Amino acid sequence: MTIKLTKPHFNNKEYNLLKKTLNSGWVTEGKKVQLFEKKFCDFQKVNYSLAINSCTSALLTSLKVLGIQRGDEVIVPAFGWPTTANVIEFVGAKAIFVDVDRNNFNIDTRQIEEKISKKTRAIIIVHLFGLTSNINKILKITKKYNLKLIEDAACAIGSKYKNKFAGNFGDLSCFSFHPRKLITTGEGGMLSFNDRKFYNSARGLINHGMQKLTKIPSEGIGPWTFADFSFPGINMKMSDIAGALGVVQFAKLTSIIKKRISQAQFYINLLSKNKFLKLPAFNEKVLKGHTYQSFVVLIKDGNRTTRNNLMKNLLKKGIESRPGTISIPHTQYYSTKYLFTKNNFPQSIFCENSSITLPLFHNLKRKQQLMIVNQINSFFNI
Ligand SMILES: Cc1ncc(COP(=O)(O)O)c(C=O)c1O
Repeated sequence: MTIKLTKPHFNNKEYNLLKKTLNSGWVTEGKKVQLFEKKFCDFQKVNYSLAINSCTSALLTSLKVLGIQRGDEVIVPAFGWPTTANVIEFVGAKAIFVDVDRNNFNIDTRQIEEKISKKTRAIIIVHLFGLTSNINKILKITKKYNLKLIEDAACAIGSKYKNKFAGNFGDLSCFSFHPRKLITTGEGGMLSFNDRKFYNSARGLINHGMQKLTKIPSEGIGPWTFADFSFPGINMKMSDIAGALGVVQFAKLTSIIKKRISQAQFYINLLSKNKFLKLPAFNEKVLKGHTYQSFVVLIKDGNRTTRNNLMKNLLKKGIESRPGTISIPHTQYYSTKYLFTKNNFPQSIFCENSSITLPLFHNLKRKQQLMIVNQINSFFNI
């Protein structure tokens, strides 16, 4: 039997609301999306939450709202998912990479200031795998250099930093509901912020550039009236089908997080004697607030062949795994454009080569976790 890497936690609650939504005949953006946005605002304690079709769209909208364009530079961590850098290049600006700290997979705050230039406009931080970045240090830097902060909280819904949820620190924050995240709408995301001044442009960008209704005085308002299309927005809206999933999934978030933390602790206890692996350390003080969106371990000596052989060995026993994620500057586009070599961003390369994500999902059983750990330990002859 296969043990999947991840599996959404769906039950009758999703099916029932989906059925209701389909039967209502209204499946584009509507009441379910509005309800999801309201619940998100209440939970996050933010003023505005806009449901959107992906976290990538939320990141893109954030950059557009901040007016970031050709000639600007935006700082971004080297290890992560390419989209975080791609949106910067997509708006014509330049992605400036900073290496990560392999102890927590997040941006190495000691290396940020040396990358700031006159062109730097913003920093995008990523709370990778559900662990928040060193936000206090980053806020000191954004304040000192007058930079905007975008939180890529794709992996960090419900994660906390000093008792506040991720997504409460940046000028704008972006979340993902892709199926590998804690809760899912198939594809989907949320853009949240507190500042009223971002609202109209963000809403318009997501929805064809539509703004308020244009009233032609001689006609009054009626079915003939269109909205103002005051700038070239596109369509990044969330549908009510996804919104219905979002409402139900969101109600499960707290219990999903609680379970995940206990599953992660179980892995850590079982694997702690394996001296070949570096685990996501479970330290109350440092890691309080980690939600383990992905449970990622490192092969300590950084050997990619060992990592691949371990993954092959797990697969033979029907256990799925994946690398943590990618060293973005070493993907073809960035390495060709900016001539990065293996000497650049060594921590990021190390993390790409030696990381493994182990199965973790709501209904993963203790006995399955035991099987996975036994398989890993027997690979290392433990
Ligand atoms: C760190 C990070 N940012 C952004 C994204 C993009 O999210 P989406 O697939 O919702 O566009 C992902 C997706 O995995 C991610 O891991």
